[in-house]
Amino acid sequence: MKKLSVNNKNIDKILVLDFGSQYTQLIARRVRESDVYSEILPWDIDETKIKDLDPKGIILSGGPNSVTKSFTPRIPQIVFELSIPVLGICYGMQTLAEQMGGHVVSVDQKEFGHSELEIHNDSRLFHGIDKKLNVWMSHGDQVQDLPDGFKLLASTKTAPIAAMQHENLPYYAIQFHPEVTHTNHGEDILNNFILNICAANTDWRMDDLIASRIDEIKNQVQGNKVLLGLSGGVDSSVTAALLNKAIGKKLTCVFVDNGLLRKGEADQVMQTFKENMNLNVIKSDSKEIFLRHLKNIEDPEQKRKVIGRTFIDVFDAEAIKLKDIKFLAQGTIYPDVIESSGSESKEARVIKSHHNVGGLPEEMELDLVEPLRDLFKDEVRRMGIELGIPKEMIDRHPFPGPGLGVRIIGEITKEKTKILQEADHIFIEELINADLYDSVSQAFAVLLPVKSVGVVGDERRYAEVIALRAVETVDFMTAKWAHLPYEFLENVSNRIVNEIEDVSRVVFDISSKPPATIEWE
Ligand code: XMP
Repeated sequence: MKKLSVNNKNIDKILVLDFGSQYTQLIARRVRESDVYSEILPWDIDETKIKDLDPKGIILSGGPNSVTKSFTPRIPQIVFELSIPVLGICYGMQTLAEQMGGHVVSVDQKEFGHSELEIHNDSRLFHGIDKKLNVWMSHGDQVQDLPDGFKLLASTKTAPIAAMQHENLPYYAIQFHPEVTHTNHGEDILNNFILNICAANTDWRMDDLIASRIDEIKNQVQGNKVLLGLSGGVDSSVTAALLNKAIGKKLTCVFVDNGLLRKGEADQVMQTFKENMNLNVIKSDSKEIFLRHLKNIEDPEQKRKVIGRTFIDVFDAEAIKLKDIKFLAQGTIYPDVIESSGSESKEARVIKSHHNVGGLPEEMELDLVEPLRDLFKDEVRRMGIELGIPKEMIDRHPFPGPGLGVRIIGEITKEKTKILQEADHIFIEELINADLYDSVSQAFAVLLPVKSVGVVGDERRYAEVIALRAVETVDFMTAKWAHLPYEFLENVSNRIVNEIEDVSRVVFDISSKPPATIEWE
């Protein structure tokens, strides 16, 4: 399958050269928040790719290595040959210093957290910024001697050379992290670099972007038919809405109802996309096939595999029924591309595995359309709102591909699914009523594989146990359990036990990730 390379040729670009920092994506997002397009490439990328990108400026990210060791990452030669502004951040500063003849040392005490920066010399980088400001540091190495031709700009108590600039060339470097919100005026410092020093145009705008993406899609598909697996999640929904604007009825979406969706979810997706937005959507009612394949399966990994495989079978069967399809659209977004670009199998990233649309027969020979593959999640959300997708759908908590299948511990049955759907519905409804939904990152109910005794009136009830899970997280890699108010939990628990006859007890999960995961399976 060929993929659509997004065409940002005519706009100004800032390249973020990645040395492995946890903040690399954040730097690129910050640049885009200033309406300038940015792209991330690994430091060891083929040099012609850097040249072809034709950036207006380059930001060198931080990274976990030490330039004091041999064989650690270095700035490729092409960066120095392009005659464009360069900003080194943290490791980026250290390797710039080292490569230009300075001296970097490892210090005994690592500096992590807030530090006061004192600016000694004027620089375009610090234009309009107070002489003293609070910055965020995270480093073990630091520049000890300035490289040839550089002057000192600023220092902190522990880092005498915390910012430097070349006397004649447009090279700047800072030891602290302007991309994190803990650095005061971090945004102004980045803007000074991007907008003043690089003089990049602010032409990364959402309305222009939608119009240009529509043109690109039309050009790519040339009136042919396109297929899309619509999950109801943000990425596939925005892809569907965009393609609908571009090619209308030439797009066919397949929405697989696997019976493991939230209560009312299938109807909601069909209502939003088919009835309100007039999209061409086929619903594949596959509840029974999934249940059949999942019979007697208890192991979590096994369940995921069976759900994934069944999804592919169902999707393929629907796709084959459609005639003359030439393209497959996918909601791949930029973090998916970046995360997999370092992997050995570059092709593996072509299919977004948890979308489970990987099994289409080779003879269909579909080309890929991926109009969101250079966008961050917040940009995708903004685009979705502009395209008229209801805000409630855009701001929904994430929902795993295997759905309620990984929230029913043990074997999945129709009855258990119904109980969980009801409990989940009550929990989410109450979160919305109490104005707490947006304050947690993800919340859901889990059906446990044990029964417990309860009393209702005079009657003893031996019934199911529901666990409630709510977490706060930025990136879903780590998470804290959400401290929901006791009165709120009491209310949810009462409603669940009173309204669902088959539930006798409700418990609240107080585990953080790590060591627990967000989902239970
Ligand atoms: P864990 O449980 O790994 O979850 O802490 C992190 C985030 O990923 C979601 N998740 C999945 N999403 N397919 C998906 O599309 C999956 O198989 C899957 N498993 C977990 C989970 O809901 C949480 O947001």
